[in-house]
Amino acid sequence: MKLLVTGGAGYIGSVVAAQLLEEGHEVTVLDDLSTGHADAVPPGASFVQASIIKAEGVLADGYDAVLHFAAKSLVGESVEKPGLYWSHNLGGTLALLDAMRRTGVNRIVFSSTAATYGEPERTPILETDPTRPGNPYGASKLAVDTALTAFAGLYGLGAVSLRYFNVAGAYGAFRERHTVETHLIPNVLKVALGERESVSVFGTDYPTPDGTCVRDYVHVADLARAHLLALDACTPGEHRIYNLGSGAGFSVKEVVDVCREVTGHPIPTTVAARRPGDPAVLVASSEKIQRELGWKPAHATLRDMVADAWTASAKPA
Ligand code: UFG
Repeated sequence: MKLLVTGGAGYIGSVVAAQLLEEGHEVTVLDDLSTGHADAVPPGASFVQASIIKAEGVLADGYDAVLHFAAKSLVGESVEKPGLYWSHNLGGTLALLDAMRRTGVNRIVFSSTAATYGEPERTPILETDPTRPGNPYGASKLAVDTALTAFAGLYGLGAVSLRYFNVAGAYGAFRERHTVETHLIPNVLKVALGERESVSVFGTDYPTPDGTCVRDYVHVADLARAHLLALDACTPGEHRIYNLGSGAGFSVKEVVDVCREVTGHPIPTTVAARRPGDPAVLVASSEKIQRELGWKPAHATLRDMVADAWTASAKPA
């Protein structure tokens, strides 16, 4: 298939683009490099450096589907700059959807998030559970999900939204590298790499077994594989939503311990205040995607995810 991958110079988009190329698809990456890296675009993909609001010029060449990753994705930043999140994540995606409609491209796989659920009433979270996002990031992604449902009904779009929980690990040299790093595992590994003295643990008084937040970590290679299944499942007139996690929760302290084991570094920690907007526990039920699309995570252990991230960050390409 001829595919457009928006945000394909970012962490998850680049891994998905690489897997699509391995499967023999023709891939164009559209990325404005506002947070992505040109050298993350996999060899073999065409690259257009532009915003998604310029997608129509690219789509006019004729594409079978779009895999849409380009977005602003920091919860904290979204609270400080909500307009940025609404304009990029909702406004940008609506422009993309219009461009798809005008150029006759009617399949899309959308990068959604567990942040659409907000503070859950129970875990593991099911796709049918209430969506009450606690920040503009989650709200902007939820608004896109709502738009996709409407576009599927009105215009026959075939859409699949994948709601990611905490993505970790690396795929060969494709790894997480944000200019401003807020995520736990890369920050912990920075200590082991000697780039930071210690890592802050945001809150040790949560109602969890060791007092730190519990998250569901999913390997980026497994997550990417789900996009290929989702692409095949795009059916005109339908919008499907699937959670993507591994179904197991690990606390911040447990993550730090695994990083110590993998790196052999003592990794000093300091206790810090809770980070606003952090739910105590987020664990997905991914039963629906396993049942309907046959997705099966192959790299389920946290140790594998940390080990892959460590190998890729210790020996960057
Ligand atoms: N944490 C620390 N120290 C750090 C960084 C994080 O203690 O230096 C803690 C956080 O407070 C949180 C946990 O580690 O309890 C995980 O934090 P991350 O920033 O790695 O991930 P989040 O769970 O906040 O966010 C992830 C995605 C978001 C998505 C969210 C859905 O990165 O895009 O899951 O809940 F919105």
